[in-house]
Amino acid sequence: MTDAETKDYVGSIPPHGGSLINRRLRGDMAEATREMARSLETIVLTPMNISDLELIAVGAFSPLTGFMGQADYTSVVHDMHLANGLPWTVPVTLAVDDETAARIKVGQTVALAEPDPDDESGQHVMGVLEVAEIFTTDPEVEAEKVYRTTEDKHPGVARIYGQGKTMLAGEIWVFDLPKAAGREFPELRHTPAQSRRLFAQSGWRRIVGFQTRNPIHRAHEYIQKTALEIVDGLFLHPLVGETKKDDIPADVRIESYQAILRDYYPADRVLLGVFPAAMRYAGPREAVFHAIARKNYGCTHFIVGRDHAGVGGYYGTYDAQAIFDEFDPNQIGITPLRFEHAFYCKKCEMIVTAKTCPHGKEHWVHLSGTQVRELLARGEMLPSEFTRPEVSQVLVEGMLRYKEDDE
Ligand code: ADX
Repeated sequence: MTDAETKDYVGSIPPHGGSLINRRLRGDMAEATREMARSLETIVLTPMNISDLELIAVGAFSPLTGFMGQADYTSVVHDMHLANGLPWTVPVTLAVDDETAARIKVGQTVALAEPDPDDESGQHVMGVLEVAEIFTTDPEVEAEKVYRTTEDKHPGVARIYGQGKTMLAGEIWVFDLPKAAGREFPELRHTPAQSRRLFAQSGWRRIVGFQTRNPIHRAHEYIQKTALEIVDGLFLHPLVGETKKDDIPADVRIESYQAILRDYYPADRVLLGVFPAAMRYAGPREAVFHAIARKNYGCTHFIVGRDHAGVGGYYGTYDAQAIFDEFDPNQIGITPLRFEHAFYCKKCEMIVTAKTCPHGKEHWVHLSGTQVRELLARGEMLPSEFTRPEVSQVLVEGMLRYKEDDE
C-alpha cells in the first residue's frame, strides 16, 4: 500500500508520531461505554485535566492515547522525550489525592467526569480510563526540571504542589467532550482533523500557527503578518483553557481577535480557532509543547516570540527559542519562526525591533501586562501605538462587563 492509502490524516505535515490519534467513541460503542461507566468509580477532573482529556481525545496531543505512565513521565521530565524517543516536554498526567488512590487498583476501569454545568451537585461523565499503572512523583523534581524553579509563586509550580502525588495512568476513551467548555465558541472549536481539512480546502500547504493567551496588540499583528509573508495561511489559535486569574478572560480576547480580523486581515488567509488547553506557564518547555500540538492541527510553522508562555521573570526573553536547538529538527517536524521583541517606535512610526530600528529607548512604546490591566480596570483606552482602537474598545467594554458581574 502507498503512504496515501494508509495515512489517517490530511495535510502537508504528519502528526507527531505519524498518526492522528482519535480516542472518541461514536454510535453503539459510545452508548455501551456510557452505560458501563454508570457502575464505575468516578474521578472528577480538574480544569487542566478536563482540557487534557479533550486534547488527547481529538488527537491534539498525538501520539498520546491517555494519561502518561511512569516511563513516559520520567523520560519527559528528565530528557524532554517520550520513552519511545519522540520529543515531548511537559507531563500530561492525572493526579489524584491519597484517598482516591487507595480505592483504585491497576486493571480497574474508572469513569472520568467534570462538574455538571447544568446541575450544581451533579457530574457529567465524559469517558473512561483503563488504569494500567499507578505511580507517585516528586513535585520538586518536576518543578525544577519542567518549570526551572521550585518557587510556589510560579503558577504552574503552585498547581503541581497543590495536587496529589499519585498518578493514574492509562489509555482513555471519550464518548462526550467536556460540556461546559464546549459551549464556549463552539464554531471555533476545530479539532485537528477539521483544521487540517480546512487548510487543505483553502489550498494552504504552509501554515503558521500562532499561540496566544493575551488580547491582540500591534506587535502580535506585526509578527503574524511578517510570518504570513512567507507561508500560505495563518492559524490564529488562542488558548482558551484555564489561565491565571489576572489574565484577560477568553471571551473578551476572542472578541478582540474577531474585531481586528474583520477590518485588518484578509479573510482567505486566516483561520481563527480555539485551543482548549490550559496554560502551564512552563515557558521554554511549553513553547515546544505548543509547537507540537499545532503540528497535530496541521501547522508547518509556529511563531515563538518574546518570552513565549512565560510568567513573571522566570525565563529569559529568548529561552523559549533557544530550547528548540536542543532537539533534532526532523523529530520536532514543525518549524519554529523566531521573532525578536517587537514594539512601536515613535520616530519610525511603525512596529520595530532592536534589529530593525536605530532609535533609542526614549522613542519606543512599551506597555507591560500590568499596565494594560490597570488601564483597562480604569475603563481607559490603551495607547493606539500599543493596540488598535477597535481592539481597545472591545477590551474596555469586555472588562467593564466583568467588573459589573463582580459587583
Ligand atoms: S503566550 O503565553 O501565549 O506565549 P502571548 O499571548 O503574550 O503569550 O504571546 C503570544 C506569542 O507572541 C508568543 O509567541 C510570544 O512570544 C509572542 N509575543 C508577544 N508579545 C510580543 C512582542 N512584543 N514581541 C515579540 N513577540 C511577542
